[in-house]
Amino acid sequence: MAILVTGGAGFIGSHLCEALLARGEAVVCLDNFDDFYAPAVKRKNLAGVLRHRGFALVEGDLRDAGVLEDLFRRHRVSAVIHLAARAGVRPSIRQPALYADVNVTGTARLLEAAGRAGVPKLLFGSSSSVYGVRTLRPFRETDEVDVPASPYAATKRAGELLCRATHALSGMAMTCLRFFTVYGPRQRPEMAIHKFTRLIEGAEPVPLFGDGTTARDYTYIDDIVSGVVGALDTCLGFGVFNLGNADPIRLTDLVRLLEVALGKTAKLEAMPPEPGDVPFTCADISAARAAFGYEPKVKIAEGLQRFVAWYGSEGREAA
Ligand SMILES: NC(=O)c1ccc[n+]([C@@H]2O[C@H](COP(=O)([O-])OP(=O)(O)OC[C@H]3O[C@@H](n4cnc5c(N)ncnc54)[C@H](O)[C@@H]3O)[C@@H](O)[C@H]2O)c1
Repeated sequence: MAILVTGGAGFIGSHLCEALLARGEAVVCLDNFDDFYAPAVKRKNLAGVLRHRGFALVEGDLRDAGVLEDLFRRHRVSAVIHLAARAGVRPSIRQPALYADVNVTGTARLLEAAGRAGVPKLLFGSSSSVYGVRTLRPFRETDEVDVPASPYAATKRAGELLCRATHALSGMAMTCLRFFTVYGPRQRPEMAIHKFTRLIEGAEPVPLFGDGTTARDYTYIDDIVSGVVGALDTCLGFGVFNLGNADPIRLTDLVRLLEVALGKTAKLEAMPPEPGDVPFTCADISAARAAFGYEPKVKIAEGLQRFVAWYGSEGREAA
């Protein structure tokens, strides 16, 4: 039996494939190596697992029913971890139909195929963006989430609802995991920490959108991976859990810590707030802690040091 990781060549997916293989699971990775960022970077993400005998790569599109049917015919899948998506808030504003197609239609196709194949459980990679712009913190899974601030957020909420409906109809166990801004080695190149590192290193201006007081609950990749694995081992019925760091940091403080990690000073460029961005995110992680012992361990200063070390050794070249 194997675990199917969709989007397994991406940032989070590639780390997850490694962790699953390390604990003796067989892994099937479905990825279409789309051009949201360089496909060569995604191929490099898989370099450490491609030759592992427990690993199989299926190159194909989630939206292609034939690809899914063939995959489930060839592999006996005990669980699906669904991470394949068009990610990113800002680009979704320019291409809402594409985001809906990949993230909503793609998810529906996967749920249908997994149901037909009799897969007993599925985890869905959702996002803190479903919480939208709010004044109350921390964000709890019981909060209302019906005012998304971007098409991306709307597609993630739609994915959660499709999971809910599929669970109600088929009984397939489903867990939706709301990731709070994930960072670490292999982070997507357009995400703030990666982009800021590149700009500070190159002595280029760093655009700061808003007044610098915006804050994000940055969560280190290893903590996210432990959370996903914990959720996989305890997935029963239907559940929604935040996976965050529960310790937000202001944008200006983040830049200061990056300057320290890089040993360089940033040239800051004040910019107006971007449409779709939310002023802060902050996870309440008590539900995940109670359900599967989730406990983030990597503090932001340490995580940034690790990111910068990776950037210096491999990341600069990958970008
Ligand atoms: N990184 C974060 O901070 C963050 C935060 C919240 C939620 N998420 C969610 O976690 C998941 C993984 O995010 P990531 O940062 O690793 O992104 P990523 O872009 O690095 O990974 C996504 C992968 O999905 C693949 N993919 C895209 N469309 C596909 C399709 N139609 N068929 C097959 N494969 C396809 C891509 O090629 C890519 O390898 C996504 O669902 C994202 O929305 C990420």
